[in-house]
Amino acid sequence: MTTFAADTLAPGFDTGQFRSALAQFATGVTIVMTRTPDGALHGLTVNSFNSVSLEPPLVLWGLAGKARSLPAFSCASHYIVNVLAAHQLELALRFARGPGDRFAALDYAESPAGLPILPGVAAWFECRARSRYPEGDHVIFVGQVEHCHFNPSKPLGFHGGKFVVI
Ligand SMILES: Cc1cc2nc3c(=O)[nH]c(=O)nc-3n(C[C@H](O)[C@H](O)[C@H](O)COP(=O)(O)O)c2cc1C
Repeated sequence: MTTFAADTLAPGFDTGQFRSALAQFATGVTIVMTRTPDGALHGLTVNSFNSVSLEPPLVLWGLAGKARSLPAFSCASHYIVNVLAAHQLELALRFARGPGDRFAALDYAESPAGLPILPGVAAWFECRARSRYPEGDHVIFVGQVEHCHFNPSKPLGFHGGKFVVI
């Protein structure tokens, strides 16, 4: 891994401009979930999901260092990435909101590792946790995909700080 010197910002760097420029990068929307050894489910809405490698099959996503679910994902052996379809905005909002039981009355099937597969998702990827890289205010999770499935659908997107249907 190559790292660069300091956390010092370039002179005149505009953080607001940075955020706005990033927001122009249109993404899909996912919900990443895991289960702790006590059986409790944890999950949140994530749009930092991306592909890394085909052989081996690797994906990544970023989790904020302040996220309540960080301890759960940090010790998870497996997690699942559910890729939301256009009609699943309610789920995206539910898993982005603050405290409250996001899994209450949630309908789901189980993946081979016993993780929730949301009905109607465009795709899901069940991952074995492979590596983690703390960087800045986030932790990057790299997972090796062990099982996946897709169901071609209109995706839910996120662009300019808003949910969009692509
Ligand atoms: C469209 C969208 C994408 C998001 N992507 C991420 C992400 O990639 N990583 C992240 O840590 N939080 C992301 N969030 C914010 C989390 O979903 C949100 O802060 C959530 O409440 C965190 O849950 P937790 O504190 O229970 O872990 C996103 C929110 C939205 C609405």
